This record gives sequence, C-alpha cells and structure tokens, in this order.
Amino acid sequence: MIDLRTDTVTQPTAAMLAAMQTATQGDDSRDGDPTVIKLEALAAARTGKQAALYMPSGTMTNLVAVLAHTQRAGEVLLERGAHMLNTELGGLAAVAGVFYKGISGARGAMDMEELRGAVRPMTRNNFGTGLICMETTHNGAGGTVLSLAHMTMVHALAQQHGIPVHTDGARLFNAAVALGVPASDIARHTDSVCFCVSKGLSAPVGSVLCGSSAFIERARPFRRMVGGNMRQAGSIAAAGIVGLETMIERLAEDHAMAKRLAAGLHAIDPRLCDPAGIQTNIVRIDISFTSRNAVQWSTALTQAGIAVSPADSRSLRFVTHRHIGIIEIDQALAAFNTVFQAT
Ligand SMILES: Cc1ncc(COP(=O)(O)O)c(C=O)c1O
Repeated sequence: MIDLRTDTVTQPTAAMLAAMQTATQGDDSRDGDPTVIKLEALAAARTGKQAALYMPSGTMTNLVAVLAHTQRAGEVLLERGAHMLNTELGGLAAVAGVFYKGISGARGAMDMEELRGAVRPMTRNNFGTGLICMETTHNGAGGTVLSLAHMTMVHALAQQHGIPVHTDGARLFNAAVALGVPASDIARHTDSVCFCVSKGLSAPVGSVLCGSSAFIERARPFRRMVGGNMRQAGSIAAAGIVGLETMIERLAEDHAMAKRLAAGLHAIDPRLCDPAGIQTNIVRIDISFTSRNAVQWSTALTQAGIAVSPADSRSLRFVTHRHIGIIEIDQALAAFNTVFQAT
C-alpha cells in the first residue's frame, strides 16, 4: 500500500530510535525532564521565541494557545477553512469557551478587508476580539504558504488593536522550506506559534507551543487542565529533537514529490489540479467532474494499492512524506490512471 493519506504516518528514523533508547526518564510533569527541556529550548530557538511547551498533539497546542491568550473570553477570528475551526471538534467553543468568526480566505490567507471589519473592541455589551489566528501551511487550502507580507499585515492590524495573534504552524517547517527562510522569519509575525514534530519531521509524538516566557507560563496550567502534562516524556521528546536537528531540510524532497504527483495528475486530466498551485507536500485534487464521489474514489484507489484521504465530497487529498519517493509517485500515478480510465 502506498500511503498518501497524511504525513503523520512517517516512522521514526534509526537515529530517532537510538535517541529514544538513551533518553532521560524524568517526570516532566513534576520536575521538567532534561530531554523535554532541551526540545523546548530548541523549539524556542528555531522559532525565535523566548520559551516553548511540549504537548502530545497539534490540536492540544492550538487549544492551550487559545486558552492562554483569551483566558476563556472573547471572539476568535480565523480563516474559514482553518483546521482549528473545522477539524478540532469545536474545542475552541466546547473547551476554551470562546466563540469565533470564520473569515473568507484565498489560499488560506484571510481577506484583509473582512478581517478589519470583524475586529471588535470590548464594550459594555461585548467581550471584543480576543485573538486572531493564522495557519501556515494551510492544510485545507492544499498546503499553501502564507506570504510574509500577509502575515505582517495581520500582525500589524492585531497590534493596532492590542489583540494577540496565534499561528497554527503544524507544518511550519514546510512553510519555511518553501519560502526559503528560517522558521523564525515566519514566527516573528505572530505572538505564539505551534508546530508538530509528528508530521513530516517523522518523530512519533508531539507538538510544541512557542511564545514569550510570560505566555508560556500562562499556558502551563492550561496544559495541565486539558490533560497534557506527561511523565516520562523524554523518549518521545528525544525523537523530536532529532527531527528538528536533521529532518527540516529534507522536507524539500516531499515538496518535489508533491509537484511530480500534481504534474502527473494534470497530465492525466488538467481538470484534476493545477501543478503551479502546489507549494509544499499537500496535493488536493478536484474530482467533481467525474462520476465518483470522494469516498468512492478513495475506495477504488485503496483497492488499487493507493491510500488517499477524501478531503470533502468533491476532492481528494494526497500528502507526500519521507516514505514516498519517485517510485511510489509513479506507481500511484499509474494506479490512479487505471482507476480514472475506468470511471
Ligand atoms: C494545520 C493543522 N493543525 C493542527 C493539526 C492537529 O495536529 P494533531 O493531529 O497532532 O492534533 C493538524 C493535523 O493534521 C493540521 O494539519
């Protein structure tokens, strides 16, 4: 099976497994484990922030960021297709207790006019805007990268109104590699940012929330509240360190494979996708003109040995990662073509 559903299926490298075996085994919740502390320091350095906090998942880092920024009051503004809005099961409202407004977007970037119009001050009858969130790379938009110019504008607008900004950077390093800049150049346009070591970086578990020291101190009790404090977390953190130290530059290979895949799909039928729009490791294709819906497509492709994710009823999502090379892409294209011709 060629697994193109997601980059979270990546297995730890040999170096990660070796580091996991010899990692410290302190009780991170109680004392702070030395390996976890090292990962947090490295994450803070990579993002140019003062401090960082390790957690089990990207969903949790986003949730804790919302809790720590808003203290459970106010409206959160974020792009309508954001992962935090669509895929995190309403945690914003159900757990963080805030309400939110989706802003129209193009390739993951919020419409600035609409965003400006949505910012509300606190009044006697209104909590006001409590937080603005961005997402880069943007999963739902197909792995698109926010331009630094857009991020600068959003951050400036927020600062003008005294509103904090959080960025869901689950694939922050994919964005950095695509832009050809260090991740800190992206993170300087946001007050807090999280990223996952468990996706393209290949570590088995975890995400890190980064921000000012004061923000991270506010985030700590919320991490505990939502059950995110871990005990002997040194082993998984050790793999995250190897991910940050050795796996960032190679993300460019995943991006090249995504481009090859998109070019091949375009050659099968140009209506499927536009290879020019592929910026990182996610390829979303439009199958609305075919006689199958996304679930039927995914079932047929699975039978042909290719696992993909139905993104919505009319599109499929392919994600490239460390276990997908030229051979796998070309096999996937051949299998896709066979299924396509039988449509
Ligand atoms: C943009 C984005 N944010 C957050 C997450 C959540 O990460 P996790 O699955 O570790 O909770 C994902 C996962 O795919 C994601 O793509």
